Parts: sequence; structure tokens; C-alpha cells
Amino acid sequence: MSINYYNTNAQNFIKDTFNLAMSDLMDEFLAFVPEEGIILDLGCGSGRDSLEFQRRGYQVVAVDGSQAMIDHATKILGNHAVCSTFDEYGTDTRFHGIWALASLLHVPEEDMVQMIRKYLGLLVDEGIFLSKR
Ligand SMILES: C[S@@+](CC[C@H](N)C(=O)[O-])C[C@H]1O[C@@H](n2cnc3c(N)ncnc32)[C@H](O)[C@@H]1O
Repeated sequence: MSINYYNTNAQNFIKDTFNLAMSDLMDEFLAFVPEEGIILDLGCGSGRDSLEFQRRGYQVVAVDGSQAMIDHATKILGNHAVCSTFDEYGTDTRFHGIWALASLLHVPEEDMVQMIRKYLGLLVDEGIFLSKR
């Protein structure tokens, strides 16, 4: 599915996924993130998980390639949502955790190793990277 798909179907996608509970997986992930640490929500979609991270006291940068998703995420998160593709995103920030839930599945297999290397490079030492389909 392309970014276009998410732009075109944003409202339905948000309606179908916004209330999904990720708390078990999130608890496992957050066990490795220091209190008030900074998390990159990569392919944030609606911003659902970023909102929960914020609620739990973490700092969040939410990134997604779909402007429609980012518009929604910005509304609920404030100014912490960035419209960028995985390829193009760049920052000097180093994160305690990267949360890529159901997002890197959109990366072509032949680009995956390079993409994972790129994002591992945005972690602090001992940072955690979660990618799940
Ligand atoms: C299946 S959704 C998952 C959204 C969210 N993580 C969740 O769990 O609800 C995949 C997300 O990845 C984004 N995405 C797909 N390809 C992308 C790319 N090349 N660069 C940035 N974002 C992309 C889509 O816009 C979409 O919001």
C-alpha cells in the first residue's frame, strides 16, 4: 500500500485503528525506555500510540509519509508530528526508543537492511528498536 492509499483512506483507517489497544506491547517496549525518554513513532498513522506515549510522560516525535495522517496526529499531539517518508526523514535527535508498528512492512525487502541500519543509527547507546508487522 502506498502513501497515496493512506491519504485517500485516512478517515476510514483512523476510525478502524484509533481505538486498538497496544498496551501489552507498549509495556514491553517501555521497559527499555527511561522515564521521560524520547521516542520516535515511525509511521505513526493516526498518532494513537504517540498520544499514549505522551500520556505516559514520554517525549515523542511522530513521523509519517501521509499528510492526512500527520494532519490528524498534529491535531491530537501538538507540534510533534512530521510529514516525511522513511527514506527522507533525518534528524540530529537521538532516541531512546523507536516504535515502528505495522509501518516498515511498506519498505521493499531489498531496502530493508539499509533502512534498519539508518534507524539504528538514530538510537542512543542501549536504545530499543521495535518493528512489528
Ligand atoms: C498500517 S499503517 C500503521 C500506522 C500506525 N503505526 C498504527 O499502528 O496504527 C502504516 C503507516 O505507514 C505510513 N507509511 C507507509 N509507507 C511510508 C513511507 N514510505 N514513509 C513514511 N510513512 C509511510 C502510512 O502512511 C501509514 O500511516
